[in-house]
Amino acid sequence: SRLWRGVIEEYRDRLPVTPATPVVTLREGGTPLVPAPWLSELTSCEVWLKVEGVNPTGSFKDRGMTVAISKAAEQGAEAVVCASTGNTSASAAAYAVRAGMRPVVLIPDGKISGPKLAQAVVHGGVIASVQGNFDDCLRLARELAETYPVALVNSVNPFRLAGQKTAAFEIVDDLGDAPDLHVLPVGNAGNISAYWLGYTEYQQSGPAKRRPRMWGFQAAGAAPFVHGGPVSAPETVASAIRIGSPASWDLAIAARDDSGGLIDAVTDEQILAAQQELSGREGLFVEPASAAGVAGLLHYSRTGRLDAGQRVVITVTGHGLKDVDTASAYYGEIRPYVVPADAAAAASALGLA
Ligand code: F0G
Repeated sequence: SRLWRGVIEEYRDRLPVTPATPVVTLREGGTPLVPAPWLSELTSCEVWLKVEGVNPTGSFKDRGMTVAISKAAEQGAEAVVCASTGNTSASAAAYAVRAGMRPVVLIPDGKISGPKLAQAVVHGGVIASVQGNFDDCLRLARELAETYPVALVNSVNPFRLAGQKTAAFEIVDDLGDAPDLHVLPVGNAGNISAYWLGYTEYQQSGPAKRRPRMWGFQAAGAAPFVHGGPVSAPETVASAIRIGSPASWDLAIAARDDSGGLIDAVTDEQILAAQQELSGREGLFVEPASAAGVAGLLHYSRTGRLDAGQRVVITVTGHGLKDVDTASAYYGEIRPYVVPADAAAAASALGLA
């Protein structure tokens, strides 16, 4: 059958599941790898976009959540908890209710986008607005899970990374081998770690002949990897990656160094400009954090630090509808042509006549 079955059934032999694991899936994964002609022309590379915003809850988090929630169900959990800048909480809530569990989500007070909060609400999340930032939320989530009967589903849970590594498998399956370079945003650093695990596993067991260099990009105001240590008051317009103390620190450093790659920062202006170029030229609307990888590639290309002729995959991690306020604000006040319901008058007002 050509019907995509979700990442657990598609990659069962590579995931930590057994026949006893109840599969909780929304048929996540199987996301499109879309050619990017404008970026390719500009960079003299062959650029592809792995479009993760088409996952069931609108971000890459669903890949890890299907595994984490399935394992929590196998272990008999009745409640799950996560800290989140918005996407993890949306995903955890959706998968948890599907499994009949209570989703408890800890979000930084006033710091997540409206649509992401709405997702947690509609999926029946028990929502705590924590007086602190994401890093405080994660510490609190860990403490709750240590002491109370609730399973932690942040990416410090290894089942999350196991699910997320399937994106690397899909890319190799689509392209026939790993790309030369893989570019993506970095926040809590689970995803760059998961991709590296996936590429490494696929090379060691055969489907890929090589591994890519990994290039991660953080927001300049929330760039602990660039500073070499935690940032106490992270700040960026890209709320999804407003994180000062990434959990997967060592794994991300290993991905960077073992791949001969880098983790660098891009400014909010570069992030918003890249988001706008993606929607205005490639036809893809992604949320601000998701544009950080594109912003980074453009920055390196413009400063002469990107070798031409490479095959490049950039992960765009979440859908543009996840944060419409930030996107709209970038364009200023929206002023449509106000026209009568009359073809001749409309055509003349719209410059078609
Ligand atoms: N892009 C988006 C859209 C995200 O939501 C996140 C992380 C990242 C990139 C960074 O990925 O943390 O694995 O390095 N969002 C988490 C959340 C923190 O709570 O939704 P990472």
